[in-house]
Amino acid sequence: MKKRLFTGIQSSGTLHIGNYFGALKPFLEIAGDYDSMLMVADYHALTSLKDPEAMRANIINVVKDYLAVGVNPADVVIFKQSDVSAHTELAWIFDCLVTVPFLQQAHAYKDKIAKGLEANAGLFTYPMLMAADILLYDTDVVPVGADQKQHVEYAREAAAKFNNSYGETFKEPKEIIMESIATIPGTDGKKMSKSYGNTIPLFGTKDEIAKAVMGIVTDSTGDRPEHVHAIHKLFQADGDLLPLYEEHKGKYKHLKEALIEDIERMVAPMREVRADITDADVKTVLEEGALRARAQADAKMQDVREKIGVRI
Ligand code: TYM
Repeated sequence: MKKRLFTGIQSSGTLHIGNYFGALKPFLEIAGDYDSMLMVADYHALTSLKDPEAMRANIINVVKDYLAVGVNPADVVIFKQSDVSAHTELAWIFDCLVTVPFLQQAHAYKDKIAKGLEANAGLFTYPMLMAADILLYDTDVVPVGADQKQHVEYAREAAAKFNNSYGETFKEPKEIIMESIATIPGTDGKKMSKSYGNTIPLFGTKDEIAKAVMGIVTDSTGDRPEHVHAIHKLFQADGDLLPLYEEHKGKYKHLKEALIEDIERMVAPMREVRADITDADVKTVLEEGALRARAQADAKMQDVREKIGVRI
């Protein structure tokens, strides 16, 4: 029997190349070795996204992105979180097992507070919803970018706390983080992130991609524009880039144009595939995925309800 792999992406905006290189590409490389599940984390997105039209559009777009990069729904269970109510149910059970100070250590929550913003209660308990996502399916491995490492640690803690209180029920999962691509930098050199406004869209038009690349922050003192180079390395081996960067030392515009062409070369064929995927295709994939996910999640919840004593 294959081991279980589980990962997810929030439907909070359009996917960027950080999501692709940090999560989707590594996922594609190993998905076949595992019994794999890929979830659209729409209830996680609700912590920041309150616009129903945008929510609907993002869910559809994220699934189209998955399919366009080559995730095959015949091999991988693709589903959305809100279709399997066991996720929110189990999250509540975990919420009742962990303490407030424990959740106060979570980066996403701490960052928000550090910025002087008020977090909603959903953001505060976010790690327990993510723990439920992972633990419901007896997950062995969770491929993610470095920013999600702490969340997988929370999932392990939740499993251990439940197992200690009620007996062995949940497997403790391990994150898989590929060091070379653990944190993809954005156009300003910081982690590429929707919330920093420094993204290069994965499925933007060529013009949108060009606009983002032209906006990469460059330091006029050096020969090599480091932020351009850091992103360029994702598209060509560093050794192959050397002659180009040597020949065009200090010519930042030329190097950015070369990067745009390299991105376009990778994205254009996927964009074509994506254009043929309909909203109806997405609905079919999600309906089938939900059936498969629900069967497993419901069986797990029977056991959990029995163990905590709510089944009489
Ligand atoms: P999210 O939606 O922010 O990101 C999805 C995936 O993309 C990775 N990623 C990056 N990797 C490298 N460099 C970057 N700049 C970069 N930006 C994003 C993330 O690490 C992630 O792997 N909480 C999760 C979603 C989630 C989930 C789960 C993941 C919900 N439940 C269960 C795994 C398992 C999140 O907000 O990811």
